[in-house]
Amino acid sequence: MVAGIRPGIRPSGRHESADSRAPGKTSMTVNRRGLLALSAAPLLAAPAVRAQGASQPAALRVGLILPMTGPFQSTGRQVDAAARLYAARNPAFAGRPVEIVTRDDAGVADTTRRLAQELVVNEKVAVLGGFGLTPLALAAAPIATRAKVPLVVMAAATASITEASPFVVRASCTLPQSSTVIADWAARNGLKKAVTLVSEYGPGIDAETWFKTRFTEAGGTVPASLRVPLQNPDFAPFLQRARDAAPEAVFVFVPSGAGSALMRQFAERGMGGAGIRVIGTGDLTDDDILNEMGDVAQGVVTAHYYSAAHDSAKNRAFVEAFRAANGTMRPNFMAVAGWDGMAMIRRALEKAGATADGPALVEAMKGLSFESPRGPVTVDAATRELTQNIYVRRVERRDGQLWNVETETFPAVADPAKTRR
Ligand code: PHB
Repeated sequence: MVAGIRPGIRPSGRHESADSRAPGKTSMTVNRRGLLALSAAPLLAAPAVRAQGASQPAALRVGLILPMTGPFQSTGRQVDAAARLYAARNPAFAGRPVEIVTRDDAGVADTTRRLAQELVVNEKVAVLGGFGLTPLALAAAPIATRAKVPLVVMAAATASITEASPFVVRASCTLPQSSTVIADWAARNGLKKAVTLVSEYGPGIDAETWFKTRFTEAGGTVPASLRVPLQNPDFAPFLQRARDAAPEAVFVFVPSGAGSALMRQFAERGMGGAGIRVIGTGDLTDDDILNEMGDVAQGVVTAHYYSAAHDSAKNRAFVEAFRAANGTMRPNFMAVAGWDGMAMIRRALEKAGATADGPALVEAMKGLSFESPRGPVTVDAATRELTQNIYVRRVERRDGQLWNVETETFPAVADPAKTRR
């Protein structure tokens, strides 16, 4: 993805950003307290509300750690834009002004860890959010536990992340949710033989495991399971091996942003012409890059929790507002998770009260139910995962553009990795 770096972002946490700078006196108070806290108790979270005078409640600071540069910058751009749009539309949560402080980890876990610590100790954020990739969320989880600060995962999707800390709450999805739905769909639609091709790390392993289990339980066979390196992937040799296995379909998981390279190589090898279909999780046909893929994407069937084409008044309003605020950018599933993550924080603060601390906020997030642009969602109180609709979608050209057109709804899907244990 080609993306400009927003001027408000502090690359690797080194420069102060216009967006995150606390105004005037507030900024000095935050910094002075930050230094004191750093020397006395490195990981104690700030009190949720700091007195600023009788008439003005203290701001609620939300620290977003996202890959704003590097290969996964489209994720950072989408989540940040949607979270800021939410805060612009809802400038006070339970009467407290909201401030978003975004930091760029460039997709590097050591940087995520350092930034999480800095945001908690120096910037006094009440909530951490973002987390573009699984290793980044896992790097920050111990800091959330020690500081007792909620960590709202707005992108990463390996099922085990919520088990890394009792302070983790998911606003995106898990790969088992989408992989089992596409496996059921494939089996019901007569596919008998599929090869899996996934990125070789947490979410890819989840996708492979859960697709294979469900598809073979339904009578399908998986003659080859291929894992492609996450960094700088060259899909060609893996696509050749997939082709050699002569499947009816290739099931694909690649993280948001990587799908167009894969689809280009699929087309170059003439695999569609050889009668091999592409199916996958919706990460592949990411709305942010779908139009770049061209005609090869047409007919690809995926399962996921969000399509920009989702037909509801709430979603039409979301897509329109997102576009108005961000030029021509189409919101993808990362954007809706950023939007809903902020909605979870607002609703939890309203439920628990404006002075709620981190543990109270997490407790208040459990069981929240609301209508999102993606459809109805509930935070499962036992797992801190979202129970949500998973849609089967088919890429179609409409009015000159490619869209993930929803064809079927699997309602209220809980994370199978937890419910089946
Ligand atoms: C992840 O690293 O957990 C991840 C990243 C991008 C996706 C899905 C999962 O599209």
